[in-house]
Amino acid sequence: ADGELRDRRQRPWRDLRISLTDRCNFRCGYCMPRSRFGPGHRFLPQARLLNFEEIAQVARQALALGVRTLRLTGGEPLLRRDLPQLIAQLAALRTLDGTPPDLALTTNGSLLAGQAQALRDAGLNRLTVSLDALDDAVFQRMNEVGFPVAEVLRGLEAAQRAGFASIKVNMVVRRGVNDGECLPLAQHFRENDGGGVVLRFIEFMDAGRHNGWKLGEVLPSAELRARIAERWPLLPLQPTRGGETAERWRYADGAGEIGFISSVSKAFCGDCTRARLTAEGQLYTCLFAARGEDLRPLLRDPHASEAGLRERLAAIWAGRSDAYSEQRERLGTIRIERADMHVLGG
Ligand code: GTP
Ligand code: 5AD
Ligand code: SF4
Ligand code: SF4
Repeated sequence: ADGELRDRRQRPWRDLRISLTDRCNFRCGYCMPRSRFGPGHRFLPQARLLNFEEIAQVARQALALGVRTLRLTGGEPLLRRDLPQLIAQLAALRTLDGTPPDLALTTNGSLLAGQAQALRDAGLNRLTVSLDALDDAVFQRMNEVGFPVAEVLRGLEAAQRAGFASIKVNMVVRRGVNDGECLPLAQHFRENDGGGVVLRFIEFMDAGRHNGWKLGEVLPSAELRARIAERWPLLPLQPTRGGETAERWRYADGAGEIGFISSVSKAFCGDCTRARLTAEGQLYTCLFAARGEDLRPLLRDPHASEAGLRERLAAIWAGRSDAYSEQRERLGTIRIERADMHVLGG
């Protein structure tokens, strides 16, 4: 619509990703490698985290500016205490159309078996579970804490029983590390085993500063898609909305859908509609941004108004021109300061 908020590249704001904690019980090498995040690593103290009321304030004003999806992330969001209470608070908010927000959450699945039903009951619509292998030895090499596959699968089953509107599985692919698991995972989540779960393959990204990213470890989606299509022919699906991260495909034999997230080989900055709120209250407009805008002073100022917060958010969005992945495509990885993935939530 005319007068709608747009950034400097004419992109609207549709998604707010909200990190609830920088803590995680995994040490995935592409995010928080154990070698850099050992027992001495200091996480944010509880007192520094935004409380639920502050998170809801930011979400409310983002929705007033046209945001439709709120995605909860971490670290590991299921480590945040009283999470169902926050979900209920967010589910009670409204978008500009007067509808409830599309409420989604990305988790490593380790604590899901015990929490899936409570999350669903509180009003969570969509769930995404990360799972990088079906083979235990490979999975444990990926999560670096010896966590077993079976427990994540148990969490997924609990989620299926809880009746989410959509369940996805995210697999980060590193060539030579877990790319041998792509076909087994595809096989597992094809219709009969997966029961409507959509598997998405993610190209290993140069996010954060600690994951030792090398282009050689990226398996380009086109190559992976060819490998899969050789076994099970694929047909393209149309995007459901603008600004999606994944390109969607379906099995020609009717066994469901899979997706490819190709931020390295095929950037999707052109219609990027996302901003990220850290657990501490900084707003980042790009996954690769050097720094965010600190919202805490405004959130904690007793004289600040809702309109004041909304204007600040609108100004931040209007001023953004980020297109990091497009620039990386042209220039190769760019050695800039950037925040870590477990702080930004992906
Ligand atoms: P859907 O709404 O279900 O499509 O979720 P999503 O793909 O937006 O979010 P999810 O948390 O599942 O993220 C999937 C992968 O895409 C992760 O590796 C994210 O880090 C990555 N990702 C999400 N948004 C962006 C983005 O704006 N830019 C880049 N480069 N990567 C992103
Ligand atoms: N490259 C690609 N995806 C990543 N994720 C975390 N770090 C990276 C990376 N370096 C994924 C997680 C999760 C999502 C939020 O981001 O596996 O699925
Ligand atoms: Fe934890 Fe997710 Fe990072 Fe793995 S990718 S270390 S599960 S926050
Ligand atoms: Fe958006 Fe930055 Fe990701 Fe590009 S790299 S899609 S601008 S978050």
